[in-house]
Amino acid sequence: LRVDESKLTAEYFEQLSRESAELCCAIMLSSEERVRQEVAFRSVLEVARRAFPDASLHHFGSTALGFSLANADMDLSISLGSNAYDAYTPAQLVEKLGVVMKNAGMRDVKMLTRARVPIVKIRDAITGIRCDIGFQSKLVLYNTRLLKAYSRIDRRFRELVFIVKYWSKQRNINEPYFGTLSSYCFVLMVIHFLQIRGVLPCLQQIEPQDGQTVPTITIDEANVYFFEDVDTLVSSGKWTCTNTETVGELVVAFFKYFSAEFPYVHGVASVRTGSVLSKEDKGWTKDRQQEMNRSGTVKDRYWLCVEDPFETTNNVGRPVDKETLFEVRGEFIRASKILCSAGGVGTGAADEATL
Ligand code: GTP
Ligand code: MG
Repeated sequence: LRVDESKLTAEYFEQLSRESAELCCAIMLSSEERVRQEVAFRSVLEVARRAFPDASLHHFGSTALGFSLANADMDLSISLGSNAYDAYTPAQLVEKLGVVMKNAGMRDVKMLTRARVPIVKIRDAITGIRCDIGFQSKLVLYNTRLLKAYSRIDRRFRELVFIVKYWSKQRNINEPYFGTLSSYCFVLMVIHFLQIRGVLPCLQQIEPQDGQTVPTITIDEANVYFFEDVDTLVSSGKWTCTNTETVGELVVAFFKYFSAEFPYVHGVASVRTGSVLSKEDKGWTKDRQQEMNRSGTVKDRYWLCVEDPFETTNNVGRPVDKETLFEVRGEFIRASKILCSAGGVGTGAADEATL
């Protein structure tokens, strides 16, 4: 990658920061949409209880985090009394739910019974909001809480997330079914980058009280501990942010990091440790790589490695193969070049829509 960001001017970074803030305002969910989401949430819960009277419903993912772009799908998860999990397989739960959703007049009902995590997709009849409803493990609620905690520490994180998500969707590399990355993976990549850059701490390594060790809180075989009381991070002296870069500078640095600096061949981006781990140490190497399992769906791939913060055996970058890694990395390089050349030749800040 031959781009020289040292030629970029302070004015360019300022303009880029301003345009980033404008873009975020323009693509963010409106407050009316938020109200409609609440209506959809209540109607999904009401219908789900016709199939499962003791169901409770949880909201996770981008719409729960305030990270969603306009018209985002809502990610919802149902939890049931433990007996239900013995009585039905995950696919049967999804079928039962799908049938009541159809009967209740929900639109575009699709049951993805063979997915890694089976879900029902619906469009709420009243609000038209699309929802993905599953019976996920509690871990999705914990990782949503972890992402929420990071978003409360530094507003630059949220802005960078919006820009990266918007860019990834514009460039069609936000499609895990087609071998590119999930939004969740991009968000973890942003956190990892900001940890390396000194903008964010590593919440899973901060002890609850001075002098204590980091505890283990086990849910579904994962340690879900992290320091959640982020309002006291600074006042308690547990974290001091020394990075004063603007969003414009961070945008340029982010694309440069994943174009030219991140060690794709041997490295694993790890939010849990705030560092790059080695693929070798995690056993995430070619010889363990299984391209397909028996049903023909992807199992484990280790071309691009991003460790799930809690399920440490889960590579969130697993949809990526050799060809799509070339595509994804090519997009990082393209964006980085555009950002640097727009600043260098004095044409003003790059318009994110063109990235
Ligand atoms: P958009 O739907 O594109 O707006 O983004 P999103 O932020 O909702 O992300 P996505 O739909 O990719 O994921 C939603 C949530 O599902 C995440 O916040 C995670 O809680 C969970 N999730 C997605 N993928 C994984 C995964 O591979 N492992 C785990 N443990 N959780 C995941
Ligand atoms: Mg989502």
